[in-house]
Amino acid sequence: MDITPNARTVLEKRYLIRDADGRPTETIEELFHRVADAIAAPDRTYNPDADIKALADRFYARMTKLEFLPNSPTLMNAGRPLGQLAACFVLPVEDSMEAIFEAIKQAALIHKSGGGTGFSFSRLRPKGSTVNTTGGVASGPVSFMRVFNMATEAVKQGGTRRGANMGILRVDHPDILEFIDCKKNNADITNFNISVGITEAFMRAVEADEEYDLIDPNTKESTGRLSAREVFEKIVDAAWRNGEPGIIFLDRLNRDNMVPSVGAIESTNPCGEQPLLPYEACNLGSVNLHRMLRRQEDGASVINWDKLADVVRDAVHFLDNVIDANRYPLAQIDHMTKQTRKIGLGVMGWADLLLELGIPYNSDEAVALGEKVMGFITDTARSASAGLAQVRGAFPLFEESTLKNGTPVRNATMTTIAPTGTLSIIAGCSSGVEPVFAYVFIRNVMDGTELVEANPVLRQLLEERGLYSEDLMRQIAQEGSLAHIDALPEDIRRVFVCAHDISPEYHIKMQAAFQRRTDNAVSKTVNFAHDATIADVRRVYMLAYELGCKGVTIYRDGSRDAQVLNIGKVN
Ligand code: CDP
Repeated sequence: MDITPNARTVLEKRYLIRDADGRPTETIEELFHRVADAIAAPDRTYNPDADIKALADRFYARMTKLEFLPNSPTLMNAGRPLGQLAACFVLPVEDSMEAIFEAIKQAALIHKSGGGTGFSFSRLRPKGSTVNTTGGVASGPVSFMRVFNMATEAVKQGGTRRGANMGILRVDHPDILEFIDCKKNNADITNFNISVGITEAFMRAVEADEEYDLIDPNTKESTGRLSAREVFEKIVDAAWRNGEPGIIFLDRLNRDNMVPSVGAIESTNPCGEQPLLPYEACNLGSVNLHRMLRRQEDGASVINWDKLADVVRDAVHFLDNVIDANRYPLAQIDHMTKQTRKIGLGVMGWADLLLELGIPYNSDEAVALGEKVMGFITDTARSASAGLAQVRGAFPLFEESTLKNGTPVRNATMTTIAPTGTLSIIAGCSSGVEPVFAYVFIRNVMDGTELVEANPVLRQLLEERGLYSEDLMRQIAQEGSLAHIDALPEDIRRVFVCAHDISPEYHIKMQAAFQRRTDNAVSKTVNFAHDATIADVRRVYMLAYELGCKGVTIYRDGSRDAQVLNIGKVN
C-alpha cells in the first residue's frame, strides 16, 4: 500500500490489533482485509448467493487506494469482538437523578468503543429549583455537565480513543448565561464541545432588538426575560475569547428531521456534523476527492465524475452494511438506528482538489464548484440508496417519514461532512472541506536533524517547474503563508492559499455551499487571526445564519491552548 510515513505511524499506533504485550498482530493490509470482509458479510442476509468475496475485494480496493475510508471506529473494530463501528451518538438526558446517571453510564460504554456522544441538557430543571423528594435545590445543567466530563476523563476510552462530547443548551433555558461562560477557563470541561441551541424566534428577537422569555423546561413557564441582543453579544464575546460556545440552529436541524413523528432533534454528535434523535447512532465515511481527478492529454487535471459516481455507490453500499455489521452498545440504540438507517457520507481532500484544478479556495468559482460536487455526491448517494431499497426494503420508518411521497430509500439521510481528523492523515490529504492549514512542516527528529514535510501537491508542482528547494520550504514554514514569498510566481501564490489567508467570509461561504447539498451538517471551523475583533466574530455568526448554515464554530488563533478535537491533528 502506498501511504505516507505519518499514515503508517497512526495506523500502527492506534488501529492495528495488538497482543497482550502491545505488539501488532496484523499488518496494515490485514487490517483492511479484516474491515472489507466484515462489512461485505451482511450482503448474505439479503441474498444467500451473493458473491461476498468479490464485494470484499471491491471494498478492499476502495480503501487501500485511499479513495474511500469509513470512520475510525469501523477501521478499529470491524471483524473484532467489540464490533462497535459508529462514530456518532446522541443520548437523551431526562430530568431525574436516575436518568442522568443512566446517561453517564451509557456514554461511558460508547466512549469505550471509540464513539462520541452528544447531549442536550435542556430538559434539566434550572439551578435553584426545588427537588420534590428531598426539598433541596437542583444544581442545574452546568453542574451535571461537569459530572459527565469527569466520567469521560476517567474512562479515557479504555485503549481506543479519548472520549468526546457535545453539550447543548437551548438559548431559552433559564441557566443559559452560566452555560455560555462555563468554558471560560481553558482547563474546564475539556472533554466537551459546547453549543448554544438557537431558535428562529430568538434570532428574530436579536434582529428586532427585543427581549425573549426564559422557559423552565419542567413547568413550561417563563422565569424571566433577557435582551436577545445582550445574550447574542455574550455568546459572540465568549467565542472570541476562546472559541466557545458554538451555535446550532435547532429549527434548521428539525426542518431536516426526516421522522418528526419519533421526536425532535435536540443535539448533534461532538463535532456538530451529525444531528441525531435520542438513541440514534450514525456511521460516517469519506470520499477522498483528491483521488477523483484525471489528467487530460494537455496535462490539465479535471474531475473524473464517472469514478466519483462509482466510489459513491460503493460507499453507500458499504455504509449501509455497517449498520447491520455493527454491534451496538445498547439495545435502544440498536433499535433506533435501524429504524432510520442514517448514513453520513462526506468528503476529504477538497482543498487538495482545488489546488490541482488551480482554483483558489477563496473564490466564487471554488464555492460554486463545492456546491456542484456535493450535489453530485448527494444525488448519486440517494439513487444508490434507492437501488438498495429495491432489494433490501426502505428504512422501516419510511412510510411515516417526510420522504414518503418520493422514491423509497434505504437510508433516511445520506450525506454528512465530517472533520476527518484522523482519516485525512491516513489518506494523506487535506481534511474535510477545510483549506490547507500549513503547506510545510519542519519536524525535529531525534538526532537533531530536521525533516521537511511539504504538501504533496505543492511539492510536485514546484518540482515540475524547477522551483523546489529546501531553503524555499524553510521560508514557507517560517512565514506560514505563501502570499508574500517573492520567489514564487503570482499564479502559485494566488492558488496555494492557507487557512489564514482566507477571509472568515469565504470560510462561511464554503461551509454554506456544502451545506446546501448535504443532508446532515458540515463540520467546519472558521479561522480568525489573533487580532480579529469581536465585531468580526459577530459578523460571521450572523452570516452563518443568513447563508443557511446549521451551525458555526470559530477559532481565533492562539486563543486556546488545548482543544477537545484539534482538527488536522491526531487526537
Ligand atoms: O477521522 P475520524 O474518523 O477519526 O474522525 P473525525 O472525522 O475527525 O470525527 C468524526 C466524529 O467522530 C466526531 O464528530 C465525533 O463524533 C467522533 N470522534 C470522537 O468521538 N472522538 C474523537 N477523539 C474523534 C472523533
